Amino acid sequence: MGCENTTTDGAVGSHAVFVDSVLQSMTLEDKVGEMTQLTLGAIGVGKPYKLVEPQRLDTAKAYDALVTNRVGSVLNCGNHEHTPEKWHEFIAGIQHYAQQKESKIPVLYGVDAIHGPTYTTNAVLVPQQIGLAATWNEDLVRENAENTAAQIFGCGIPWNFSPVLDLGRDPRWPRFWETFGEDPLLASRMGVAMVEGYQNGEVPIAATLKHFFGYGFTLSGNDRTPAWIPERELREYFLPSFKAAIDAGAMSIMVNSGEINGIPVHTNKWMLTDLLRDELGFEGVVVTDWEDVKYLYTRHMVAKDYKEATRMSIEAGIDMCMVPLDFGFTEALLALVREGSISESRIDESVRRILVMKKQLGLFETGGMPPALEDYPNREEFEDDAAQAALESITLLKNEGQNVVDPVQPVLPLGKSGKLFVTGPTAHSLNALNGGWTGTWQGRDTVYNTPGMPHLVEALSNRFGIKRVVSEKLAMDFETAEIDRVIRAIEQTRPDYVVLALGEMPYTEIPGNDEDLALFGNQKALIRAVHKMGLPTIGVFIEGRPRTFDDVEPFMDAIVMAYLPGDFGGDAIAQVLEGSYNPSGRLPFTWPRHPSSHVTYDHKHTEEIGTDFYTNGFNPQYSFSHGLSYSSVEVTDLRLEQTSYDMGDTIHLMVGLTNVGDRITNELVCVFSQDSVASITPSVDRLRYFDRVMVGPRESMSLSVSLPVEELSFINAALQEVVEPGAFSLRVGSKTVAFNVNE
Ligand code: GLC
Repeated sequence: MGCENTTTDGAVGSHAVFVDSVLQSMTLEDKVGEMTQLTLGAIGVGKPYKLVEPQRLDTAKAYDALVTNRVGSVLNCGNHEHTPEKWHEFIAGIQHYAQQKESKIPVLYGVDAIHGPTYTTNAVLVPQQIGLAATWNEDLVRENAENTAAQIFGCGIPWNFSPVLDLGRDPRWPRFWETFGEDPLLASRMGVAMVEGYQNGEVPIAATLKHFFGYGFTLSGNDRTPAWIPERELREYFLPSFKAAIDAGAMSIMVNSGEINGIPVHTNKWMLTDLLRDELGFEGVVVTDWEDVKYLYTRHMVAKDYKEATRMSIEAGIDMCMVPLDFGFTEALLALVREGSISESRIDESVRRILVMKKQLGLFETGGMPPALEDYPNREEFEDDAAQAALESITLLKNEGQNVVDPVQPVLPLGKSGKLFVTGPTAHSLNALNGGWTGTWQGRDTVYNTPGMPHLVEALSNRFGIKRVVSEKLAMDFETAEIDRVIRAIEQTRPDYVVLALGEMPYTEIPGNDEDLALFGNQKALIRAVHKMGLPTIGVFIEGRPRTFDDVEPFMDAIVMAYLPGDFGGDAIAQVLEGSYNPSGRLPFTWPRHPSSHVTYDHKHTEEIGTDFYTNGFNPQYSFSHGLSYSSVEVTDLRLEQTSYDMGDTIHLMVGLTNVGDRITNELVCVFSQDSVASITPSVDRLRYFDRVMVGPRESMSLSVSLPVEELSFINAALQEVVEPGAFSLRVGSKTVAFNVNE
């Protein structure tokens, strides 16, 4: 049984009587224990980051944590995934300890199932968020989130630390791929779809919006380093996705580990209380990120000790501390309340929210026990959605050269004949297709890969037939000397095409920090060497962030971005290369041409001034929303019903589309607005609407778009969301229509 529809709107009220009755029976120790979250590694046999195998609860540690210290929440997985059976052992074991404490309040278990159940053996893994964003398909995002919920709930886990609603506006950031890309509207709509999928599906669980907020736009591009983001920009770009998901009823929020304008977010009362609670009306649970209260005095140096750090974070507005390895927070908070520095009524606020969340998730009815193991869902139920998401994420960026079978056609699709030679550092790796948070935190351990899921070479062989696919393996750190081996193998094979699988191996968080955004290692040397052979060459990027490769871009006839497409990504790439699927993925970010030229699509006019003072300075490798299909759809018409509108009006735009090719095409229609003059420097473009439409071969159709004038807004210097009267235009593709907004 899942929990009831778990949106927070009104939930607090509907559980108030029950929750208050529990609260009244709780001691201070019970309450502070509810606000404490430990990692599984802290209560398992062995060392926290290296539990003894087979992993199991340590009786003494578990009792000390869950009974003596009344810890109310546990997270994570030890240090690798587990089978559903093992999850049941852990969750049931933990709840048995919970039942031994006076309050018997069940423990709330949380996990990072960020692209499918990433810490559950043989789970159905879907594309990482950056790939889901490339589908621009909310239904697919919602369906896959529902599937994730069903699987982790089947393990007994009702709380998912997902989605990430930070923006991917700096591709240097090692968590870029965990986002829905650079645009606030795209991230908002995808985030709402994911929250709805987790919380409103057949088996609801709790979503977590993370990491609130302004995380991922640091000065250095490195994770958890200082960011300077004025409030206006915070509200313009980084708040909308969180606001939309809060309005959709998200049950919890995780806090940004970083500092913004010199203030660690975990101590920022304006953010965590005035803005989040008072302005946005968020009623759910605010949980810290990993060890972030302790980091206030060990990393940020804003507190002299644990106790002061605890006080600062509680006063700022956190409800639960992901400690997660000790009782420092618990002891500090008990002392603070006992000495009167923190009121018990403040503690009650947080405990009430935690109890409401547990009630909403049905923990008081089930004791937090996992559902019957025999009811664990069959993975076949979810595979089609995962495969479809992988397929719709694949983005065709370039398609030139000559197809060997039909030279008047570009190199792709390869069709049913021709031999492929496949090589490159991501060609033989299922880990590369999945990225971080897969089986283990960094996603690099092959031992946890889903049995039977193919890497790219295997998927190509399955799709094209083993006679058509020859490959040569390269590790990510291959030496230039190994390129000779590859060239010799190509000469011996005499293929019709060469497929180069490029990109990155998995990483996340600080380990993924990187000094240089360029395609690294000897991948460029490999591209140059293969190019000299004069064979049609297809580059396939399997990576979490757009690595730059401008100097070798001309040496590849076709280029495909696969992002991190998950377990079904190999076959998705194969279907696009072969042509059985007409690629529909579109970039959710701007692809920089050079390592230090990462400017987003919604940049300002001054960012377009080139060295010759013409407006040719913005020159990305590929633009936001770029992507090709095997049959192009042209915008043939763009019309408005009127040329001036009043505030409060709705703009009705007619978009004429014609598919000039002979394949049905899943087309993305984006409507960008241009504000000619504004009190804040206007962006050259702002995405205001998007939708996907299927356009049949040689079909012409028109799409009617309704856009309320108020959606042309921006945040002004007084921090108000406004639409200023004046001249505007709307652009779809290369067509633009002008209109006025009246006083
Ligand atoms: C990590 C991440 C966060 C994750 C949490 C629990 O440090 O920042 O995204 O949910 O710890 O694993």
